[in-house]
Amino acid sequence: MTSSPAQYTWAGRFSEPVSDLVKRYTASVDFDRRMWQQDIRGSLAHARMLARQGILSAGDLIDIERGMETVAREIETGQFEWSLDLEDVHLNIEKRLTALVGDAGKRLHTGRSRNDQVATDIRLYLRDAIDDIQVLLKQFRSALVDLAEKEAATPMPGFTHLQVAQPVTFGHHMLAYFEMFGRDGERFADCRKRVNRLPLGAAALAGTTYPIDREFVAAELGFEGVCENSLDAVSDRDFAIEFTSACALLMMHISRLSEELVMWMSPRVGFIQIADRFCTGSSIMPQKKNPDVPELARGKTGRVYGQLMSLLTLMKSQPLAYNKDNQEDKEPLFDAVNTITDTLRIFADMAGGITVRAENMQAALTQGFATATDLADYLVKKGLPFRDAHEAVGHAVKAAEARGVDLPQLTLDELRAFCPQVENDVFAVLTVAGSLASRNHIGGTAPDQVRAAIARARGRL
Ligand code: ARG
Repeated sequence: MTSSPAQYTWAGRFSEPVSDLVKRYTASVDFDRRMWQQDIRGSLAHARMLARQGILSAGDLIDIERGMETVAREIETGQFEWSLDLEDVHLNIEKRLTALVGDAGKRLHTGRSRNDQVATDIRLYLRDAIDDIQVLLKQFRSALVDLAEKEAATPMPGFTHLQVAQPVTFGHHMLAYFEMFGRDGERFADCRKRVNRLPLGAAALAGTTYPIDREFVAAELGFEGVCENSLDAVSDRDFAIEFTSACALLMMHISRLSEELVMWMSPRVGFIQIADRFCTGSSIMPQKKNPDVPELARGKTGRVYGQLMSLLTLMKSQPLAYNKDNQEDKEPLFDAVNTITDTLRIFADMAGGITVRAENMQAALTQGFATATDLADYLVKKGLPFRDAHEAVGHAVKAAEARGVDLPQLTLDELRAFCPQVENDVFAVLTVAGSLASRNHIGGTAPDQVRAAIARARGRL
């Protein structure tokens, strides 16, 4: 079965209908209907401008406003009949409006094209999405600060190369993520400025012959300004690429945290427990409790990278101005928005469901010579050049390892064998608490500094 060309608004110059396959291939309504609110908002602003400029009668505007109210209600309540024959969200809404209010509906598209209409809808949609994401990011970051505060002084091994390096506190570690997600928020805020420009008025590509007022439409829709060039306005999707790249970076940070959570929850490590509601069991191994949420988030990171790559490739080499290729921008974008918002929501909740197993962190700290650097620093303060101190401590570590003990378990005489400058005060330096407390500057891991950083973090939220 084929469709009658008369069903299409553009059917005038066609003599043959498209096949069902082509119809399905070219239609976007199944996914772009998600932007119905933005589409109606944009249309109403456009209609008000047309009426103000005397391009549309006051009566037509009233009809359009009334009709759009009905359309919105029908969509909201699920009564609206979306039709593939009408290609996309724009034509579906316009057709229904016309059925409801007659000629006024047909006049709505004066001085406008679907090219500037869709670009406007996406920008409105993305702006809303960014605002939602900012709220979620804030909730997540404040959950991280709460966790950091609870564990501000809890010692854990800090790692480099996944080898025990130096003691840090778990709170300090959480605040590292607070910083990363803070920069992600800044990126979204910055991207929003470039999203928040009005394409309407560009029409198909060259502008329009009607005496339109683009500034008025921009103000109605809360845009910070208009897109300066009509060709650019309808054709570029760099703002969507930029948004998705901010999503990709955010997910990269999520994947780092996820990897740590998965590792920390392994019984071999045992640094944390994650509340049961974020884990699942195994259908065969009764003992299993798997950290599914962080694992999936790690996996979904690849998915968002993929969406970024899709959009970059979609835009590559496209000649000016609008090309139908651009219809393919929506699914990657929507998928990135879905993934990011679900992930942030679940992580904000999950951060509150993390229990720290301080005893296991402590045990790991005593197994990796975590205070070796502190001993070297101590020797430097006693007058040794750092390189010599480094070497002396290396010998001490070797001896401790051979005896199966940690550095603080070596006797004063044993330590003196490697470096005669060592005195009794060395043991204060070799403890984890001493090591932590001595890193007492802004950005350091001393519990007092972590608490100060938490106070600053709360101020920034
Ligand atoms: N559905 C189209 C899109 O997503 C709307 C613009 C169509 N414009 C056109 N000239 N066919 O890009």
